[in-house]
Amino acid sequence: MEQITVVTGGSSYPVHIGEDVYRLFSEEYKELLLQADKIAVFADGTAAGLHADVLMTALERAGVRPLIHLLPSGEASKTADSFIACQSFLLLHGFTRNSLLIAFGGGACGDLTGFVAATFMRGIPFLQCPTTILAHDSAVGGKTAINMPEGKNMVGAFHQPAGVLFESRLFATLPEREVRSGMAELLKHAMISDAAWADALLSDMRFPHLPPAELDRELMKGIQVKAAIVGADEFEQGTRKFLNFGHTLGHAAEAYFGYGAVSHGECVMIGMAYSMLLSETFGGVRPEETDRFIGSAVRSGYPLERLLDVPFGPLLDFMRKDKKAVHGEIIFVLLEHTGRPFTQPVPESVLASAYSELATRIRKGLQS
Ligand SMILES: NC(=O)c1ccc[n+]([C@@H]2O[C@H](COP(=O)([O-])OP(=O)(O)OC[C@H]3O[C@@H](n4cnc5c(N)ncnc54)[C@H](O)[C@@H]3O)[C@@H](O)[C@H]2O)c1
Ligand SMILES: [Zn+2]
Repeated sequence: MEQITVVTGGSSYPVHIGEDVYRLFSEEYKELLLQADKIAVFADGTAAGLHADVLMTALERAGVRPLIHLLPSGEASKTADSFIACQSFLLLHGFTRNSLLIAFGGGACGDLTGFVAATFMRGIPFLQCPTTILAHDSAVGGKTAINMPEGKNMVGAFHQPAGVLFESRLFATLPEREVRSGMAELLKHAMISDAAWADALLSDMRFPHLPPAELDRELMKGIQVKAAIVGADEFEQGTRKFLNFGHTLGHAAEAYFGYGAVSHGECVMIGMAYSMLLSETFGGVRPEETDRFIGSAVRSGYPLERLLDVPFGPLLDFMRKDKKAVHGEIIFVLLEHTGRPFTQPVPESVLASAYSELATRIRKGLQS
């Protein structure tokens, strides 16, 4: 089992990853659990169906019997209706300011549960027990949110968890698409921090068959990148924006396809390819690097071809609502070179021509 501590201005908390991390409920988390007057597990329906017994047995061993509130699987849970249903559940069951929530599922469940915890009675503590690879990103850093029909993650709050317990044995049941989705965020962490690491990932994207111990080590590296950035800039005034590499077009694509239709990480992969292309103009990325990125993504099964049928107009409308947009300018995270990100306002005319170039380059990648 590995552990690091995330230190932000307002709080610090541990992130644990490995096999059998839930035994920590009977050890360092026992006091937190026993202090709470009530505990609820907000659980992704699929994750709960497969693995709730692992969590509940460990909690019972620690002497607590939480209520379970089942959520729709995946992105369908991150809605205003679902948010209200969670709040009503807590009120109906007499939860108070001294209660505790536990998120058990992927990033969608964690984002929703975190937002409920941030707002119920003006804020109660919560633990993240993520069950997807992607959640090595989402469970760390305290961003919580729900989606709106108008855009992704549009309503939310910063609310740090009291701890993150990553039971890596639960990854075994992830479908290939979800492994791919999670590995895209891992690649993002590499692309913004470490050229050699990114290079290694791009040349050997053996998803979904990484041996578990190797995967844990890789995820810990990703968590370290995220923890360092969040520690330096909790509220995204500066460097935390770098974590949005690939997300400006990625979120737009996700909203366009319909939340959940193409996975978050798959959309981020599309967005990173676009950002690489823009980095040829504004940074020092060479065209062959972008082509290699696209080639690796295609070979690893990322559905870049989905973009070929998508007109630019609707994506631009979504990108105009991006939370990084300032005074009507769309701000992109680009690369001076791999490992060295910067932010750049990009005129819409440049975005449009880069988008048609992206289609050309994807076609080339599909043929090679
Ligand atoms: N808060 C942040 O900083 C942050 C960062 C990155 C992403 N996110 C958010 O995270 C979400 C994506 O997270 P995700 O990729 O984990 O998706 P997800 O939560 O939608 O889960 C993906 C799918 O996997 C299923 N699943 C979960 N655990 C499983 C398991 N162990 N075995 C089999 N199936 C399992 C779910 O039911 C779902 O169908 C997006 O909403 C994104 O916006 C947030
Ligand atoms: Zn993301």
